[in-house]
Amino acid sequence: MKKIAVFASGSGSNFQAIAVAAQSGILNAEISLLVCDKPGAFAIDRAEMLGIPALVISPKSYPSKAAYEAEILQKLTSLDVEMIVLAGYMRLIGPILLEAYEGKIVNIHPSLLPAFPGKDAIGRALAAGVETTGVTIHYVDEGMDTGPIIASASVKVEAGETRETLQKKIQRIEHSLYPEILEELLNGEEEAVQWEKSVH
Ligand code: GAR
Repeated sequence: MKKIAVFASGSGSNFQAIAVAAQSGILNAEISLLVCDKPGAFAIDRAEMLGIPALVISPKSYPSKAAYEAEILQKLTSLDVEMIVLAGYMRLIGPILLEAYEGKIVNIHPSLLPAFPGKDAIGRALAAGVETTGVTIHYVDEGMDTGPIIASASVKVEAGETRETLQKKIQRIEHSLYPEILEELLNGEEEAVQWEKSVH
């Protein structure tokens, strides 16, 4: 069974959705590790509840990004991790991990990329008055929410929508789309799958 490490910085609801899918056999993979760069993040509590080991590691404790990532890489290598799944990991991936896991790092982002990359994608989409936003899953490169797109799902912005209601809709889609696409990537055809969904 393929081994995955999930990286998260915050609440970890996507991490939990992926872990539950793996534990219930919907996703044919083992979630070997949570990597969390924010001590105190709720993702760490979720890892404990799910019985998944967590590496809580603060970049501030290292002299450089390379040293920080080298420490993470050592842990991933010791666990034979084959794929890195970013789930609300609010940090750019540097050359150390990009080279070690070339083509094997994926990310989920709460907008239809290339629109609204970076932080607060949901709030900025709402403020811009778009009629449709969504979720994108993509391979990770050195950029901020760039890299080849694997799958996307669109979400209609209804009249009177608030940040909270839109976030809820987007996260509900994320929690089903991410495990589904990971299963395709890990256990489906070798080629990247191209998905498009429409959710209203
Ligand atoms: C998710 O909505 C994810 O798409 C977003 O952070 C949230 C994390 O929620 N990621 C980004 O904005 C990446 N640029 P979670 O911690 O509850 O999974």
